[in-house]
Amino acid sequence: MCGIVGYIGPREAVTVLLPALRRLEYRGYDSAGVATIHGKNLEVRKTAGKILQLEAILERSPVRGRVGIAHTRWATHGRPSDGNSHPHVDCASRLAIVHNGIIENYRELRKDLARDGHQFRSQTDTEVIAHLIERHRANGLAEGVRQAALQLQGAFAIACIAGDEPEVVVAVRRGSPPLVIGFGDSEVFLASDIPALLGETREIVVLEEGEMTVLTAKSVTLHTLDGHRVRRTHSIIPWDRDTAEKAGFPHSGFPHFMLKEIFEQPAAVRNTIRDRVDLEGGDIRIPEMGLTDRDLVGLNRLCFVACGTSLHAAMVGKYMVEAFARLPVEVDVASEFRYRKPVLDGRVLTVPISQSGETADTLAALREAREQGSRIVAVCNVLGSSVAREADGVLYTRAGIEIGVASTKAFTAQLTALFLLALKLGMARGFIDRALARHLTKGLWEVPDLMAGVLELNEEVEKVLAIGKVASRFAESKDFLYLGRGIHYPLALEGALKLKEISYIHAEGYPAGEMKHGPIALIDARMPVVAIAPKGPTYEKMAANIEEVKAREGIVIAVVTAGDGEVGGEADVVLPIPPAAHWLQPLLVAVPMQLLAYHIGVLKGCDVDQPRNLAKSVTVE
Ligand code: AGP
Repeated sequence: MCGIVGYIGPREAVTVLLPALRRLEYRGYDSAGVATIHGKNLEVRKTAGKILQLEAILERSPVRGRVGIAHTRWATHGRPSDGNSHPHVDCASRLAIVHNGIIENYRELRKDLARDGHQFRSQTDTEVIAHLIERHRANGLAEGVRQAALQLQGAFAIACIAGDEPEVVVAVRRGSPPLVIGFGDSEVFLASDIPALLGETREIVVLEEGEMTVLTAKSVTLHTLDGHRVRRTHSIIPWDRDTAEKAGFPHSGFPHFMLKEIFEQPAAVRNTIRDRVDLEGGDIRIPEMGLTDRDLVGLNRLCFVACGTSLHAAMVGKYMVEAFARLPVEVDVASEFRYRKPVLDGRVLTVPISQSGETADTLAALREAREQGSRIVAVCNVLGSSVAREADGVLYTRAGIEIGVASTKAFTAQLTALFLLALKLGMARGFIDRALARHLTKGLWEVPDLMAGVLELNEEVEKVLAIGKVASRFAESKDFLYLGRGIHYPLALEGALKLKEISYIHAEGYPAGEMKHGPIALIDARMPVVAIAPKGPTYEKMAANIEEVKAREGIVIAVVTAGDGEVGGEADVVLPIPPAAHWLQPLLVAVPMQLLAYHIGVLKGCDVDQPRNLAKSVTVE
């Protein structure tokens, strides 16, 4: 989950590497470092902490050179420290490497290299790579990297430069850690992720697993690790820099990416619907799935696999698909999928859901399903990502780049995509006729405007939280309980996850009906309870649960349908959402869940865009 960047060209490398690295800081921020080549000398600067600390060091002691690599770290082996920061160098400090991933056999390699006299300076798994390349580079840097890569076990993306070969950057990839090459005018860029390249180029090539590349300012060559030349057409990225910067609409200059992306949800939902719905005819068109209606009728099961927020979207998707298409649905935590030995075949549609498309557990689950002959249609937000490339078809969410580690707009875009998938399945399988489809898609089409209304809560929420005893009670709270029923139960899980990852407060999402089977024991005057109780099939039961909480002095923050004075009257804090069809309410309920976590996080002075111990996409299993 580290971020790697590289550059070779006419400009001072550091002027390109630092801005690119900043756009990858959501991948990890335990330490940062850069290495460049000036003449035949390697210049390395690195430090524990954020890129800001590295910039301060570079102020005092700049690096020079037109070739360079840089790194932002999410520590796995060796605690965050200056010594464990990347880049790592060989014994003679002639070459430097940066690495994303995990080297599983680093202990035995380290012992073997130490026996050979190699001196180690860090506790990381990564440093063995520098010494291994040093051992094998008699026939040049590229061959040294290739030989080293053949000896490494695990998943890795590596970039390497050497003072005595000042005109090249060599990179290699095995397993899921991604690497993208960007093409400029007599300059070439390398990065772990597309956002880092925005503003420099939109022309890219994705380095596939088991491939390596040699970059010079004028050329790029790709080879497999067994030496076969690879030719690949360039792709054009549909995004531009602004979408990756804080310049947003309607309020320019958001204080945090998370808030900017919360406000981008109406557009994300609208974009995900666009040209997939015929509002007049009531038809749903998703050709990119690559499945005919006949294929959809032939299915006998659907299997969602995902992690984190995407898993919560999958849980909502289950309610929709089973109701609209009467197709049995399983939802699996991707990291657990392989351990249950799932029984799949060609009549099962496996749907991996992933914002980044690089989450290793979800990728592993996809491969497990493929091995068993299941059809694979991914729901993904990143063009050309590993999950998207390995699936048979992709239902892209069109949320744009999501920088904030806490997923927000990608979540509601996923709910939109799953609503369309469920409708498509329901129509193909004859459970939803055009009239009902027209009614449901019309409701979906109205969601962005309803969401814009909910976003106005933002000021309201801030005012309520900032004033009155409730706010302080929230910020001091050690625990929160989130309750929901039916399609809102996954939203309770999502609300709890947002609060946990943004404010470091322990929070649990629970099916409200389970309360009396245990968690009710936790309720007292210090326990805030977020109850999701909009009008609908679960309303009465939720109202009863809220009374149970109030009977034990609990603090109730209720998400209710606007104007509902009954449940609203019971609650300490009311977060209203506009009336909407039951199946569409999760798209509206998500917003107050996100805003609550965001404002409590800000109140507590947390870094809401880069929460501790977290990273945007988890590329190791
Ligand atoms: C959510 O806010 C978290 N960032 C995390 O749980 C995330 O949803 C999970 O890692 C899955 O990521 P993906 O959708 O990119 O696969």
